[in-house]
Amino acid sequence: MNDPAQERTAVRRSLERSCAVAGLQWGDEGKGKIVDLLAEGHDAVVRYNGGANAGHTVVVEGRRVALHLVPCGVLRPGTLGVIGPGVVVDPEALVAEIDALQAAGLDPSGLRVSSAAPVVMPYHIDEDQVREGLLASRRAPDVLSADAEPIGTTRRGIGPAYAEKAHRASAVRMGDLTRPGLLRKKIELAADIKNRALAPMLDPPRAYDAEALIERALALGERLAPYVCETRSLLRGALAEGRTALFEGANGALLDIDHGGHPFVTSSSTTALGIGPGTGIPTRGLGRVVGVMKAYQTRVGAGPMPTELADATGDRIRERGQEFGTTTGRPRRCGWLDLVSARHGAELNDCDAIALTMLDVLAGFDELRVCVAYRLGGRETTRFPLDAADLSRAEPVYETLPGFAEEIAGVGSFDDLPRAAREYAEVIERFVGAPVEIVSVGPDRAQTIRRDAT
Ligand code: IMP
Repeated sequence: MNDPAQERTAVRRSLERSCAVAGLQWGDEGKGKIVDLLAEGHDAVVRYNGGANAGHTVVVEGRRVALHLVPCGVLRPGTLGVIGPGVVVDPEALVAEIDALQAAGLDPSGLRVSSAAPVVMPYHIDEDQVREGLLASRRAPDVLSADAEPIGTTRRGIGPAYAEKAHRASAVRMGDLTRPGLLRKKIELAADIKNRALAPMLDPPRAYDAEALIERALALGERLAPYVCETRSLLRGALAEGRTALFEGANGALLDIDHGGHPFVTSSSTTALGIGPGTGIPTRGLGRVVGVMKAYQTRVGAGPMPTELADATGDRIRERGQEFGTTTGRPRRCGWLDLVSARHGAELNDCDAIALTMLDVLAGFDELRVCVAYRLGGRETTRFPLDAADLSRAEPVYETLPGFAEEIAGVGSFDDLPRAAREYAEVIERFVGAPVEIVSVGPDRAQTIRRDAT
């Protein structure tokens, strides 16, 4: 298509039929299953933020596959899976994931990785650990202040890789892995800087060997070369031809670098706001945004969580929900649903609909609580504080709702849910301001109630 005005119109039309799926909490909302479900109607599935810190578990024909970088939808034959320039890519992790998919008999040939995506290098993973260790050693027992606490990162080098991107000259990008001259210049510069600033802090201290780093990076580049390209044009071309995309957000709204509870956040734009910069596709007219939220609250890593339940109820949610991290295996902190933060997430994403997951986990509780305001500084507010120090002082104001005794894992329609479960969903709709169109009552694709399809 040569006429740019016609092309723009065609892209806009396709975007109107495209959608985004993003988490409204602290990650782990069950986005993988929802993406997998909604990807069916789309030609491309696109990651635009984060890196191997994310973890989606999808169940395909009874097989569980854990994906950290590869977009979930790529498992459907004929689907284009794009890792955009907003994602930081650990090539070691990506190769391992491709190998695991192939070993499971799944075909990753529809995967394309942006040549502009920053590379997570081994020294970024080291720096992540060193910084976390330093924060831990500086922690004063009487200080609640956020800046004295480790963030509890996934230690995948995500923050340091994004920082390197901002440093620019020393930042290796995926396309550099097949350009030996440029790669050498960047890695020699980076190794020099890391050897002065980071190597002495390693335990035990050791120097980075630029030659070894270059050799390994070139080997990984050769292996990944069939997947690396300029994804913006590829995606735009597909949209111009009338194909549609599903944009898959990683992490969760409350972990957003700018709009989450700083500094206990990740290093990227985790909401649909990040799609433009993370892909190069303008998303003004994007058709639909589906916000995914669990029926209760979880968090991994440090940072305030107003509705956390450090008691038997929290343990029961963790056990029933199998709340252990996909990426790190860490037990997740569990608590009652926080609607103040969910509304914040929905506003950032401009959600059209909600996918409510893990509702089955709440069966058997006599009563259910939802947080509808924070008590902060002597008054009640429904505004989510962007500063962890404020969030740590927020006391939840709860509304108590009736529980439901029946197990619901086999329920197939919204109307067949126990009345209390329906009411729970309706309270969420009213507070968050978007309809609950999907209810997930178990890990399998079949355990999904669609209200949009009826
Ligand atoms: P980082 O992204 O590894 O730097 O970790 C920063 C914070 O975000 C930590 O609290 C992590 O536990 C959290 N985090 C990052 N990605 C995810 C995710 O996909 N699910 C849940 N928490 C995450």
